[in-house]
Amino acid sequence: METTESAAVPRPVVGVVRETDDGERRVALVPKVAGSLIGKGFDVVVEAGAGEAALIPDSAYEKEGASIGDAWAADIVVKVAPPSDAEVTRLRSGQSYIGFLAPRNETNQVGALASAGVQAFAVEAIPRISRAQSMDALSSQANVAGYKAVLLAAMESTRFFPMLTTAAGTVKPATVLVLGVGVAGLQALATAKRLGGRTTGYDVRPEVADQVRSVGAQWLDLGIDAAGEGGYARELTDDEKVRQQQALEDAITGFDVVITTALVPGRRAPILVTAAAVEGMKPGSVVVDLAGETGGNCELTDPGRTIVTHDVTIASPLNLPATMPEHSSELYSKNIAALLELMVVDGRFAPDFSDEVLAASCVTREEVQS
Ligand code: NAI
Repeated sequence: METTESAAVPRPVVGVVRETDDGERRVALVPKVAGSLIGKGFDVVVEAGAGEAALIPDSAYEKEGASIGDAWAADIVVKVAPPSDAEVTRLRSGQSYIGFLAPRNETNQVGALASAGVQAFAVEAIPRISRAQSMDALSSQANVAGYKAVLLAAMESTRFFPMLTTAAGTVKPATVLVLGVGVAGLQALATAKRLGGRTTGYDVRPEVADQVRSVGAQWLDLGIDAAGEGGYARELTDDEKVRQQQALEDAITGFDVVITTALVPGRRAPILVTAAAVEGMKPGSVVVDLAGETGGNCELTDPGRTIVTHDVTIASPLNLPATMPEHSSELYSKNIAALLELMVVDGRFAPDFSDEVLAASCVTREEVQS
């Protein structure tokens, strides 16, 4: 219901557009979160069918007070996957855009968005600081990937994860090594433990050791400390890389499952599992490489495919969060809503760029408002 007070300030309109990438089943705002934004002074317009792939009908949005219409014409367009060339042409000068934009990748739409006069926010660029945790879409989606990676490993494995004591004998638990224990890695360790695996974690940031132990895993210490800035690792020197690969080659032979998630922002994924390490693994073992998008942590990874070599399965699934669209979308929506709320001052959409979260995540900024 309109009040004189709210009529004075136009309600910022958020547009939820339909995803068009192959296999992308997520949606940027789920109905419940859209409803909560409406309660906080936004209007929400949803493109027809935007939630369909996540099994959310248009009527669920309407029930929460959103309307179905031209979401691309909204003040702020929200999306999950980066926009295609054709999608960028649907945006006009003065609009804002929020979503994954892969600003560090060679092929990105940042230039096109800037030329179109669109004020764009890349969710990957949100700093990993405590205050911005609720907006950290990279983390919320990496959590999903870490969980799903373990399930995939269990499916591909020729062996059980848990120890089984049966009348036909006792089966030993699977040994699981997670390389790179950030968000995805920690979730992978926790999930593998819940499935009954015997878990070990490794990272080049020594401060991670306590987190690894907190989810019941052992800490593998190879004596390399490469903590960088902002909670990320620095790239290893050539000498460190050789030492690390050799030490891992020895360690990896003892594991049934290796899950890799090592990332250095803006760089090719470090190679942690060499071809020789794969050759040393027991037949039937599994490597799940989550870093396929940046080249992979395993020398033999074929991004997006599952291959078998030396009787070892190497899977490199891309976009795992899209395979669990309900919860991935719910978490992503909450990240987007928290970011939107930060951009509103006295009911007006007016991002304050002295805020480090907005300054860091804004990748194109035209003279939208004078
Ligand atoms: P994160 O930054 O939280 O964790 C990466 C970890 O790798 C950090 O703890 C870092 O210290 C560690 N690391 C970096 N270099 C290393 C090295 N040389 N040796 C050992 N550890 C090293 O990243 P997050 O969010 O957990 O993502 C992990 C990976 O998963 C990324 O490559 C990301 O692109 C990928 N990902 C893949 C998805 C998929 O569906 N395939 C979905 C989501 C994320």
